[in-house]
Amino acid sequence: MKTVIRETDQMYDAAAEHIRSLLQAKPDAILAVAAGRTMLPLWKRLGDVSFAKARLFQVAEFIGAPEKKTLRRMTEEGLLACTDLKPENCSWLSEETLAGYDAMIDEAGGLDLAILGIGDNAHIGFNEPATQYDTRSRKQKLTNPTRAQYTWLFGDAESVPEYGLTMGIHTLVDARQVMVLASGEEKAKPVFDMLYARDDSIIPAAFLQLPPDVTVYADTDAAKKL
Ligand code: GLP
Repeated sequence: MKTVIRETDQMYDAAAEHIRSLLQAKPDAILAVAAGRTMLPLWKRLGDVSFAKARLFQVAEFIGAPEKKTLRRMTEEGLLACTDLKPENCSWLSEETLAGYDAMIDEAGGLDLAILGIGDNAHIGFNEPATQYDTRSRKQKLTNPTRAQYTWLFGDAESVPEYGLTMGIHTLVDARQVMVLASGEEKAKPVFDMLYARDDSIIPAAFLQLPPDVTVYADTDAAKKL
């Protein structure tokens, strides 16, 4: 697992360069894309990169959220608004698409790059603590820390959906490349756990110690415990 630690702006510059390089080498890259507040500064740096032939698979989504509060909407208002990624090249997680989601990824040729954030409790996507390695895309009950993490979007934790949909750990670690972005002091502990935890079923992000090509982009606040 490589770590790139920079001041915030430079961290996002480095992460954007990672994606720019991949798409210059493989314009039709298959991308797994997480939503979240961490991602918006990244998307704003990619307006000069062609996503016209790229494909997106959403990493996680709430079940039953109002349309304007979905993670899909965050990605549409972020990545799709900042780049020429085509809506028809985007696959979104829903209760209707869940059953065939991993097969769709396989049929597309597998993931070239998973672009992830990390939850305050070290979840990736909505793979919560106690998730096993060999999990595929599925429905996941959200923990209280994860629901609390989204009070900024829903107003209070009780209004955050109880369940989400997520790419599984196995789905994510099968990606040919993985990058994880973390910004801010609240990510210092999950970032430390991601890199050094040994009981990965309690620290889902620690499963990312396994794949050969994982890069963590952390700003100095998120890297405080390293
Ligand atoms: C959420 C999302 C993840 C995201 C993470 C960080 O639960 N399902 O995909 O990466 O938590 O979110 P944020 O960037 O808003 O801190």
